[in-house]
Amino acid sequence: MPRKSKTVAPKELGIATRSIHAGEDRLRYADSITTPIVQTSTFAFKDSKEIEAYTKHGKARFEYGRYGNPTEQVAARRLAALVGAEDCVVFGSGMSAITTTILALVKSGDHIIITDDAYKKTLEFCSSYIHRFGVDCTIVPFGHYEELEAAIRPNTRFIFSESPTNPYLNIFDLTRLRKIAKRHNVLTLIDATFSTPLNQRPLEWGVDLELHSCTKYLAGHNDILAGAVMGRKELIEEIRGLHKAVGGVIDPHCCYLLLRGLKTFPLRMKVHNETAMKTARFLEAHPCVDRVYYPGLESHPHYETAKAQMTGFGGVVSFDIKGNLAAAKRFLDHLKLCYIAPSLGGVETLITHPAIVSYYGQTRKERYALGITDTLIRLAVGIEDPDDIIADLDQALRKSHPAKRTARKK
Ligand SMILES: Cc1ncc(COP(=O)(O)O)c(C=O)c1O
Repeated sequence: MPRKSKTVAPKELGIATRSIHAGEDRLRYADSITTPIVQTSTFAFKDSKEIEAYTKHGKARFEYGRYGNPTEQVAARRLAALVGAEDCVVFGSGMSAITTTILALVKSGDHIIITDDAYKKTLEFCSSYIHRFGVDCTIVPFGHYEELEAAIRPNTRFIFSESPTNPYLNIFDLTRLRKIAKRHNVLTLIDATFSTPLNQRPLEWGVDLELHSCTKYLAGHNDILAGAVMGRKELIEEIRGLHKAVGGVIDPHCCYLLLRGLKTFPLRMKVHNETAMKTARFLEAHPCVDRVYYPGLESHPHYETAKAQMTGFGGVVSFDIKGNLAAAKRFLDHLKLCYIAPSLGGVETLITHPAIVSYYGQTRKERYALGITDTLIRLAVGIEDPDDIIADLDQALRKSHPAKRTARKK
Protein backbone atom coordinates (compact mmCIF):
# COMPACT_ATOMS: atom_id res chain seq x y z
CA MET A 1 0.00 0.00 0.00
CA PRO A 2 1.18 3.60 -0.51
CA ARG A 3 2.98 4.73 2.63
CA LYS A 4 2.15 8.18 3.82
CA SER A 5 4.61 9.14 6.52
CA LYS A 6 2.74 10.50 9.50
CA THR A 7 5.76 10.53 11.73
CA VAL A 8 5.30 12.61 14.85
CA ALA A 9 9.08 12.85 15.34
CA PRO A 10 10.78 14.67 12.47
CA LYS A 11 14.49 14.60 11.81
CA GLU A 12 15.27 17.64 13.98
CA LEU A 13 14.31 15.79 17.15
CA GLY A 14 16.90 13.93 19.17
CA ILE A 15 17.55 10.22 18.74
CA ALA A 16 15.97 9.34 22.11
CA THR A 17 12.78 11.19 21.18
CA ARG A 18 12.68 9.54 17.76
CA SER A 19 13.22 6.12 19.31
CA ILE A 20 10.09 6.62 21.38
CA HIS A 21 7.77 8.54 19.09
CA ALA A 22 8.83 8.32 15.45
CA GLY A 23 6.47 6.68 13.02
CA GLU A 24 3.39 6.74 15.19
CA ASP A 25 0.14 8.50 14.46
CA ARG A 26 -0.65 10.94 17.22
CA LEU A 27 -4.02 9.30 17.88
CA ARG A 28 -4.19 5.54 18.08
CA TYR A 29 -6.81 2.83 18.44
CA ALA A 30 -8.77 3.19 21.71
CA ASP A 31 -6.50 6.14 22.63
CA SER A 32 -3.78 3.66 23.46
CA ILE A 33 -0.39 5.13 24.32
CA THR A 34 1.37 2.10 22.86
CA THR A 35 1.14 1.03 19.22
CA PRO A 36 -1.52 -1.69 18.97
CA ILE A 37 -0.55 -5.15 17.73
CA VAL A 38 -2.74 -5.69 14.69
CA GLN A 39 -2.57 -9.48 14.79
CA THR A 40 -4.22 -10.32 11.50
CA SER A 41 -3.16 -12.00 8.29
CA THR A 42 -5.69 -10.15 6.11
CA PHE A 43 -7.80 -6.99 6.02
CA ALA A 44 -11.52 -6.73 5.19
CA PHE A 45 -13.06 -4.45 2.56
CA LYS A 46 -16.45 -2.91 3.35
CA ASP A 47 -17.81 -3.37 -0.18
CA SER A 48 -16.84 -3.51 -3.86
CA LYS A 49 -16.58 0.28 -3.98
CA GLU A 50 -13.90 0.15 -1.36
CA ILE A 51 -12.01 -2.54 -3.25
CA GLU A 52 -11.98 -0.30 -6.30
CA ALA A 53 -10.97 2.74 -4.28
CA TYR A 54 -7.91 0.70 -3.30
CA THR A 55 -7.12 -1.13 -6.54
CA LYS A 56 -8.07 1.57 -9.05
CA HIS A 57 -7.53 4.79 -7.15
CA GLY A 58 -4.67 3.85 -4.85
CA LYS A 59 -6.49 4.46 -1.55
CA ALA A 60 -3.99 4.06 1.29
CA ARG A 61 -5.06 1.01 3.30
CA PHE A 62 -3.97 -2.55 4.05
CA GLU A 63 -4.92 -5.60 1.99
CA TYR A 64 -3.00 -8.71 3.06
CA GLY A 65 -0.42 -9.36 5.78
CA ARG A 66 2.50 -10.11 3.45
CA TYR A 67 2.04 -6.68 1.81
CA GLY A 68 2.06 -4.73 5.06
CA ASN A 69 0.52 -4.41 8.49
CA PRO A 70 -0.10 -1.32 10.65
CA THR A 71 2.27 -2.41 13.45
CA GLU A 72 4.99 -3.21 10.91
CA GLN A 73 4.43 0.15 9.21
CA VAL A 74 5.12 2.03 12.44
CA ALA A 75 8.31 -0.01 12.99
CA ALA A 76 9.50 0.76 9.43
CA ARG A 77 8.84 4.48 9.83
CA ARG A 78 10.59 4.57 13.19
CA LEU A 79 13.68 2.78 11.89
CA ALA A 80 13.82 5.11 8.87
CA ALA A 81 13.61 8.12 11.21
CA LEU A 82 16.37 6.70 13.41
CA VAL A 83 18.92 6.35 10.63
CA GLY A 84 17.74 9.43 8.70
CA ALA A 85 16.50 7.44 5.67
CA GLU A 86 13.65 8.24 3.31
CA ASP A 87 12.23 4.76 3.64
CA CYS A 88 12.71 1.34 5.25
CA VAL A 89 11.51 -2.24 4.88
CA VAL A 90 11.34 -4.49 7.94
CA PHE A 91 11.92 -8.25 7.61
CA GLY A 92 11.50 -11.38 9.71
CA SER A 93 15.29 -11.63 10.26
CA GLY A 94 18.52 -9.83 9.44
CA MET A 95 19.38 -12.51 6.87
CA SER A 96 16.03 -12.04 5.18
CA ALA A 97 16.79 -8.30 4.89
CA ILE A 98 20.25 -9.02 3.45
CA THR A 99 19.29 -11.73 0.95
CA THR A 100 16.15 -9.98 -0.28
CA THR A 101 18.05 -6.72 -0.72
CA ILE A 102 20.84 -8.40 -2.68
CA LEU A 103 18.40 -10.27 -4.91
CA ALA A 104 16.32 -7.15 -5.52
CA LEU A 105 19.34 -5.21 -6.79
CA VAL A 106 20.80 -7.74 -9.23
CA LYS A 107 19.90 -9.45 -12.47
CA SER A 108 21.61 -12.25 -14.37
CA GLY A 109 24.93 -11.06 -15.79
CA ASP A 110 25.64 -8.64 -12.92
CA HIS A 111 28.66 -8.71 -10.65
CA ILE A 112 28.84 -7.89 -6.94
CA ILE A 113 31.69 -7.35 -4.46
CA ILE A 114 31.74 -8.30 -0.80
CA THR A 115 34.53 -7.98 1.76
CA ASP A 116 35.86 -11.15 3.30
CA ASP A 117 34.99 -10.70 6.95
CA ALA A 118 31.30 -10.09 6.46
CA TYR A 119 28.87 -12.12 8.57
CA LYS A 120 29.37 -15.80 7.79
CA LYS A 121 25.92 -16.44 6.33
CA THR A 122 26.03 -13.29 4.19
CA LEU A 123 29.34 -14.47 2.75
CA GLU A 124 27.91 -17.95 2.22
CA PHE A 125 24.92 -16.51 0.35
CA CYS A 126 27.21 -14.44 -1.88
CA SER A 127 29.80 -17.16 -2.47
CA SER A 128 27.60 -20.28 -2.71
CA TYR A 129 24.12 -19.25 -3.85
CA ILE A 130 24.09 -16.01 -5.82
CA HIS A 131 25.86 -17.56 -8.84
CA ARG A 132 22.75 -19.75 -9.34
CA PHE A 133 21.03 -16.57 -10.49
CA GLY A 134 23.79 -15.80 -13.00
CA VAL A 135 25.44 -13.24 -10.72
CA ASP A 136 29.20 -13.26 -10.24
CA CYS A 137 30.68 -12.35 -6.86
CA THR A 138 34.20 -11.24 -5.95
CA ILE A 139 35.29 -11.50 -2.33
CA VAL A 140 38.01 -8.98 -1.48
CA PRO A 141 40.09 -8.81 1.68
CA PHE A 142 38.71 -6.28 4.15
CA GLY A 143 40.69 -3.05 4.25
CA HIS A 144 42.43 -3.61 0.88
CA TYR A 145 40.95 -0.57 -0.82
CA GLU A 146 43.14 -0.76 -3.95
CA GLU A 147 42.15 -4.39 -4.47
CA LEU A 148 38.54 -3.45 -3.89
CA GLU A 149 38.67 -0.75 -6.55
CA ALA A 150 40.52 -3.04 -8.96
CA ALA A 151 37.78 -5.67 -8.57
CA ILE A 152 35.11 -3.31 -9.94
CA ARG A 153 33.90 -4.24 -13.44
CA PRO A 154 31.56 -2.44 -15.83
CA ASN A 155 28.75 -4.76 -14.67
CA THR A 156 29.44 -4.37 -10.93
CA ARG A 157 26.18 -3.47 -9.22
CA PHE A 158 27.30 -2.90 -5.65
CA ILE A 159 29.94 -3.21 -2.94
CA PHE A 160 28.74 -4.85 0.28
CA SER A 161 30.60 -4.56 3.56
CA GLU A 162 30.12 -4.30 7.29
CA SER A 163 31.41 -1.91 9.90
CA PRO A 164 32.40 -2.94 12.50
CA THR A 165 32.91 -6.55 11.45
CA ASN A 166 32.66 -9.77 13.37
CA PRO A 167 34.68 -10.91 15.33
CA TYR A 168 37.66 -8.53 14.96
CA LEU A 169 35.62 -5.31 14.93
CA ASN A 170 37.36 -4.00 11.83
CA ILE A 171 36.15 -0.59 10.71
CA PHE A 172 35.43 0.19 7.07
CA ASP A 173 36.63 3.63 5.99
CA LEU A 174 33.34 5.03 4.68
CA THR A 175 35.00 8.07 3.08
CA ARG A 176 37.20 5.83 0.94
CA LEU A 177 34.23 3.64 0.13
CA ARG A 178 32.18 6.63 -1.03
CA LYS A 179 35.00 7.91 -3.24
CA ILE A 180 35.60 4.52 -4.87
CA ALA A 181 31.89 3.95 -5.45
CA LYS A 182 31.42 7.43 -6.91
CA ARG A 183 34.33 7.00 -9.34
CA HIS A 184 32.75 3.82 -10.73
CA ASN A 185 29.07 4.56 -10.21
CA VAL A 186 28.33 1.50 -8.09
CA LEU A 187 25.98 1.26 -5.13
CA THR A 188 27.27 0.78 -1.58
CA LEU A 189 25.62 -1.37 1.08
CA ILE A 190 26.72 -1.44 4.71
CA ASP A 191 25.53 -3.88 7.34
CA ALA A 192 25.75 -1.63 10.39
CA THR A 193 24.34 -4.10 12.92
CA PHE A 194 27.35 -3.87 15.25
CA SER A 195 27.48 -0.08 15.31
CA THR A 196 23.77 0.89 15.41
CA PRO A 197 22.39 4.34 14.49
CA LEU A 198 23.62 5.76 17.80
CA ASN A 199 27.29 5.08 17.07
CA GLN A 200 27.64 5.34 13.30
CA ARG A 201 25.46 6.80 10.56
CA PRO A 202 26.48 5.26 7.21
CA LEU A 203 23.81 7.06 5.15
CA GLU A 204 25.24 10.40 6.25
CA TRP A 205 28.63 9.20 4.96
CA GLY A 206 27.16 8.65 1.51
CA VAL A 207 26.32 4.93 1.74
CA ASP A 208 23.30 4.02 -0.41
CA LEU A 209 21.71 1.33 1.73
CA GLU A 210 22.12 0.57 5.43
CA LEU A 211 21.14 -2.86 6.76
CA HIS A 212 20.57 -4.08 10.28
CA SER A 213 19.89 -7.29 12.07
CA CYS A 214 17.35 -5.69 14.44
CA THR A 215 17.56 -8.96 16.38
CA LYS A 216 20.55 -7.36 18.07
CA TYR A 217 20.76 -3.90 19.66
CA LEU A 218 17.67 -2.35 18.08
CA ALA A 219 15.23 -4.85 19.60
CA GLY A 220 17.74 -5.43 22.36
CA HIS A 221 16.26 -8.16 24.55
CA ASN A 222 17.38 -11.44 22.94
CA ASP A 223 13.74 -12.29 22.31
CA ILE A 224 12.97 -11.74 18.61
CA LEU A 225 14.47 -12.01 15.14
CA ALA A 226 14.08 -9.02 12.83
CA GLY A 227 15.95 -7.19 10.08
CA ALA A 228 15.73 -3.96 8.12
CA VAL A 229 17.09 -2.10 5.13
CA MET A 230 16.98 1.69 4.91
CA GLY A 231 17.81 4.18 2.17
CA ARG A 232 16.44 6.25 -0.70
CA LYS A 233 12.82 5.74 -1.62
CA GLU A 234 13.40 4.44 -5.15
CA LEU A 235 15.86 1.75 -3.98
CA ILE A 236 13.65 0.73 -1.06
CA GLU A 237 10.63 0.46 -3.39
CA GLU A 238 12.55 -2.08 -5.53
CA ILE A 239 13.38 -4.10 -2.42
CA ARG A 240 9.83 -3.85 -1.08
CA GLY A 241 8.50 -5.23 -4.36
CA LEU A 242 10.61 -8.39 -4.10
CA HIS A 243 9.96 -8.67 -0.35
CA LYS A 244 6.24 -9.05 -1.09
CA ALA A 245 7.04 -11.98 -3.40
CA VAL A 246 9.78 -13.64 -1.33
CA GLY A 247 7.69 -13.19 1.78
CA GLY A 248 10.18 -13.01 4.66
CA VAL A 249 7.77 -10.79 6.58
CA ILE A 250 7.88 -9.93 10.23
CA ASP A 251 5.02 -10.94 12.47
CA PRO A 252 3.01 -8.04 14.05
CA HIS A 253 3.74 -9.23 17.57
CA CYS A 254 7.48 -9.20 16.80
CA CYS A 255 7.04 -5.68 15.43
CA TYR A 256 5.52 -4.65 18.72
CA LEU A 257 8.49 -6.10 20.60
CA LEU A 258 10.83 -4.32 18.20
CA LEU A 259 9.00 -1.02 18.81
CA ARG A 260 9.12 -1.61 22.54
CA GLY A 261 12.85 -2.37 22.38
CA LEU A 262 13.51 0.71 20.26
CA LYS A 263 12.05 2.98 22.95
CA THR A 264 15.04 2.28 25.19
CA PHE A 265 17.61 1.66 22.45
CA PRO A 266 19.70 4.86 22.92
CA LEU A 267 19.72 4.39 26.71
CA ARG A 268 20.79 0.77 26.42
CA MET A 269 23.34 1.49 23.72
CA LYS A 270 25.10 4.10 25.85
CA VAL A 271 25.46 1.48 28.60
CA HIS A 272 26.71 -1.14 26.09
CA ASN A 273 29.32 1.37 24.86
CA GLU A 274 30.52 2.29 28.34
CA THR A 275 30.59 -1.24 29.70
CA ALA A 276 32.37 -2.62 26.64
CA MET A 277 35.02 0.10 26.92
CA LYS A 278 35.57 -0.59 30.60
CA THR A 279 35.67 -4.35 30.00
CA ALA A 280 38.07 -4.01 27.05
CA ARG A 281 40.48 -2.02 29.22
CA PHE A 282 40.17 -4.60 32.00
CA LEU A 283 40.89 -7.45 29.56
CA GLU A 284 43.83 -5.61 28.03
CA ALA A 285 45.45 -5.48 31.46
CA HIS A 286 44.66 -9.10 32.39
CA PRO A 287 47.54 -11.59 32.68
CA CYS A 288 45.49 -14.42 31.14
CA VAL A 289 44.64 -12.43 27.99
CA ASP A 290 46.91 -12.22 24.99
CA ARG A 291 45.22 -9.62 22.84
CA VAL A 292 42.02 -7.54 22.85
CA TYR A 293 40.14 -6.31 19.78
CA TYR A 294 37.92 -3.30 20.43
CA PRO A 295 37.76 -0.28 18.10
CA GLY A 296 37.69 2.10 21.06
CA LEU A 297 41.14 0.95 22.21
CA GLU A 298 44.21 2.75 20.89
CA SER A 299 45.69 -0.69 20.16
CA HIS A 300 43.02 -1.52 17.58
CA PRO A 301 44.37 -1.23 14.02
CA HIS A 302 41.37 0.89 12.94
CA TYR A 303 41.18 3.07 16.03
CA GLU A 304 41.74 6.31 14.07
CA THR A 305 39.03 5.48 11.51
CA ALA A 306 36.67 4.44 14.29
CA LYS A 307 37.28 7.72 16.13
CA ALA A 308 36.62 9.70 12.96
CA GLN A 309 33.37 8.05 11.95
CA MET A 310 31.85 6.69 15.17
CA THR A 311 30.57 8.37 18.31
CA GLY A 312 30.64 5.15 20.36
CA PHE A 313 32.33 1.82 19.75
CA GLY A 314 29.60 -0.72 20.49
CA GLY A 315 29.12 -3.58 22.89
CA VAL A 316 31.27 -6.34 21.37
CA VAL A 317 34.80 -7.03 22.56
CA SER A 318 36.86 -9.91 21.17
CA PHE A 319 39.98 -11.28 22.78
CA ASP A 320 42.50 -14.07 22.58
CA ILE A 321 42.89 -15.89 25.82
CA LYS A 322 46.43 -17.04 26.65
CA GLY A 323 47.14 -20.71 26.07
CA ASN A 324 45.25 -23.11 23.85
CA LEU A 325 41.84 -24.50 22.95
CA ALA A 326 41.61 -26.29 26.30
CA ALA A 327 42.22 -23.03 28.20
CA ALA A 328 39.48 -21.31 26.16
CA LYS A 329 37.06 -24.14 26.96
CA ARG A 330 37.97 -24.02 30.67
CA PHE A 331 37.23 -20.29 30.62
CA LEU A 332 33.74 -20.92 29.15
CA ASP A 333 33.03 -23.68 31.63
CA HIS A 334 33.72 -21.46 34.63
CA LEU A 335 31.43 -18.58 33.65
CA LYS A 336 28.64 -18.02 36.13
CA LEU A 337 26.90 -14.81 35.00
CA CYS A 338 27.68 -14.46 31.30
CA TYR A 339 25.80 -16.93 29.11
CA ILE A 340 27.53 -19.08 26.50
CA ALA A 341 25.40 -18.25 23.46
CA PRO A 342 25.69 -16.82 19.96
CA SER A 343 24.22 -13.38 19.14
CA LEU A 344 24.78 -9.96 20.64
CA GLY A 345 23.02 -6.72 21.43
CA GLY A 346 20.64 -7.93 24.12
CA VAL A 347 20.50 -7.00 27.78
CA GLU A 348 22.19 -10.26 28.83
CA THR A 349 25.95 -10.65 28.36
CA LEU A 350 26.67 -13.43 25.87
CA ILE A 351 29.95 -15.10 25.09
CA THR A 352 30.82 -17.23 22.12
CA HIS A 353 33.89 -19.21 21.22
CA PRO A 354 33.97 -19.06 17.40
CA ALA A 355 36.32 -22.07 17.03
CA ILE A 356 33.77 -24.44 18.54
CA VAL A 357 30.53 -22.62 17.70
CA SER A 358 30.23 -20.74 14.40
CA TYR A 359 33.31 -22.35 12.82
CA TYR A 360 32.63 -25.82 14.15
CA GLY A 361 33.01 -28.28 11.27
CA GLN A 362 35.95 -26.49 9.69
CA THR A 363 39.44 -27.82 10.08
CA ARG A 364 41.88 -25.96 12.27
CA LYS A 365 43.82 -24.99 9.14
CA GLU A 366 40.68 -23.58 7.47
CA ARG A 367 39.76 -21.67 10.60
CA TYR A 368 43.24 -20.19 10.99
CA ALA A 369 43.19 -19.13 7.34
CA LEU A 370 40.08 -17.10 8.23
CA GLY A 371 41.81 -15.69 11.31
CA ILE A 372 39.71 -17.74 13.75
CA THR A 373 42.16 -18.95 16.37
CA ASP A 374 41.55 -21.65 18.99
CA THR A 375 41.73 -19.04 21.72
CA LEU A 376 39.47 -16.33 20.28
CA ILE A 377 36.52 -15.35 22.46
CA ARG A 378 33.76 -12.95 21.41
CA LEU A 379 32.12 -11.15 24.26
CA ALA A 380 28.85 -9.26 23.70
CA VAL A 381 28.42 -7.22 26.84
CA GLY A 382 24.92 -6.76 28.16
CA ILE A 383 23.69 -4.02 30.44
CA GLU A 384 24.32 -5.70 33.77
CA ASP A 385 26.52 -3.82 36.25
CA PRO A 386 29.95 -3.62 34.62
CA ASP A 387 31.70 -4.70 37.81
CA ASP A 388 29.66 -7.92 37.91
CA ILE A 389 30.52 -8.74 34.30
CA ILE A 390 34.19 -8.03 34.96
CA ALA A 391 34.21 -10.10 38.15
CA ASP A 392 32.71 -13.07 36.30
CA LEU A 393 35.27 -12.79 33.50
CA ASP A 394 38.10 -12.42 35.99
CA GLN A 395 37.22 -15.54 38.00
CA ALA A 396 36.70 -17.62 34.85
CA LEU A 397 39.97 -16.39 33.33
CA ARG A 398 41.91 -17.21 36.48
CA LYS A 399 40.37 -20.69 36.60
CA SER A 400 41.24 -21.22 32.94
CA HIS A 401 44.89 -20.67 33.90
CA PRO A 402 45.30 -22.26 37.31
CA ALA A 403 48.97 -21.26 37.44
CA LYS A 404 48.23 -17.55 37.01
CA ARG A 405 46.82 -15.37 39.75
CA THR A 406 45.13 -11.97 39.60
CA ALA A 407 48.37 -10.03 39.24
CA ARG A 408 47.87 -7.44 36.50
CA LYS A 409 50.18 -6.88 33.57
CA LYS A 410 52.57 -4.02 34.05
C1 LIG B 1 26.48 -8.49 11.28
C2 LIG B 1 25.31 -9.39 11.14
N1 LIG B 1 24.50 -9.24 10.10
C3 LIG B 1 23.42 -10.03 9.93
C4 LIG B 1 23.12 -11.04 10.81
C5 LIG B 1 21.93 -11.90 10.59
O1 LIG B 1 20.88 -11.46 11.39
P1 LIG B 1 19.70 -12.42 11.87
O2 LIG B 1 20.28 -13.40 12.81
O3 LIG B 1 18.73 -11.45 12.49
O4 LIG B 1 19.16 -13.08 10.64
C6 LIG B 1 23.94 -11.24 11.92
C7 LIG B 1 23.65 -12.32 12.87
O5 LIG B 1 24.37 -12.58 13.81
C8 LIG B 1 25.06 -10.40 12.09
O6 LIG B 1 25.91 -10.55 13.12
